[in-house]
Amino acid sequence: MACGGEGAGGGGDTSGNKPADLTIGVAMPTQTSERWIADGNSVKEKLEAKGYKVDLQYAGDDIPTQSQQVDQMITQGADVLVIAAIDGTALSSQLQAAADAKIPVIAYDRLIRDSPNVNFYVSFDNYKVGVAQATALLVGLGLQNKDGSKGTAKGPFDIELFAGSLDDNNAHFFFDGAMDTLKPFIDDKSLRVKSGQTTIEQVAILRWQQETAQRRMEDLLTSSYNDGTRVQGVLSPYDGLSRGIITALQNAGYGAKGVKMPVVTGQDAEIASVKLINDGVQNSTIFKDTRLLAEQAVVAAEAFLQEKEPQANDTKTYDNGVKVVPSNLLPVQTVYKDDIKPVLVDSGYWTAEEVASGQAKG
Ligand code: GAL
Repeated sequence: MACGGEGAGGGGDTSGNKPADLTIGVAMPTQTSERWIADGNSVKEKLEAKGYKVDLQYAGDDIPTQSQQVDQMITQGADVLVIAAIDGTALSSQLQAAADAKIPVIAYDRLIRDSPNVNFYVSFDNYKVGVAQATALLVGLGLQNKDGSKGTAKGPFDIELFAGSLDDNNAHFFFDGAMDTLKPFIDDKSLRVKSGQTTIEQVAILRWQQETAQRRMEDLLTSSYNDGTRVQGVLSPYDGLSRGIITALQNAGYGAKGVKMPVVTGQDAEIASVKLINDGVQNSTIFKDTRLLAEQAVVAAEAFLQEKEPQANDTKTYDNGVKVVPSNLLPVQTVYKDDIKPVLVDSGYWTAEEVASGQAKG
């Protein structure tokens, strides 16, 4: 046994150790989004229930802070690392240190890029998230029905597009899935992106910031909709951005006095947005059950601690620039207003009171 052993070993052969002697470092990006709080709590609770020690850290969306936290987890003897990266390309030296100390690394929801030292990836089918978001936009506009058949609406509809942070690998998968789905409708002119901004670079929102999305929507309204036309649909890849977009629209009079709120999509089923969907303000969100993701992270961490390879269900899709990272991908589900009760409330993800108030009880 090179290292590992009793107590503060870190890495090495851990298969003979008791859970209480093993520590899992969990690095999460930010607490400003409640999804990451739920993710962090779920992973911690599930690991602690099995007797492991957990070092859970949030980095306030600051890259140096996250690098430092991961460095510290390594020096303090973590046996496995679970990391949801802020910038998927910024952790190479930390991951090299982890590999040198034989600490397996699990990328959590966001792929860590440009490093050979990512051992496993747990996430959702991110391309399908984008397809689902674009489909919800088409359904909301009436161009398509929920069963995928052609809708009765003809258009042309004026829409705008948003994407996530360019340094997050997921943002590209979401946008690709969405654009592949929207392209035929843009080509046959039933959809028109009035601003002309259709590349991911033009529509990306750094760090997934709500305020930045609000500002971009305000700018779009001033620059492209100052001629009496109205934006009718907005592709938004994440509920936080959707709330910024909706605020900008409401400030410009949308959703009041006969001015229709455009169809706005989302992702993550954040409680404030679930309320907006329930109130008929936001069209939909994509639900990714973070409880299941946390469970997968725990299963993968345990496999590594027992010196086994976790089971992957995808060994092709997630090339991180150096290697294809074996992945376990979970399915996703679109939530429209009618789905809130059966999908989110009945499964215990949110209570009916939380949906009504728009606030998590914690
Ligand atoms: C992505 C994640 C999304 C959303 C977004 C903003 O990486 O896949 O579900 O949470 O970050 O936090």
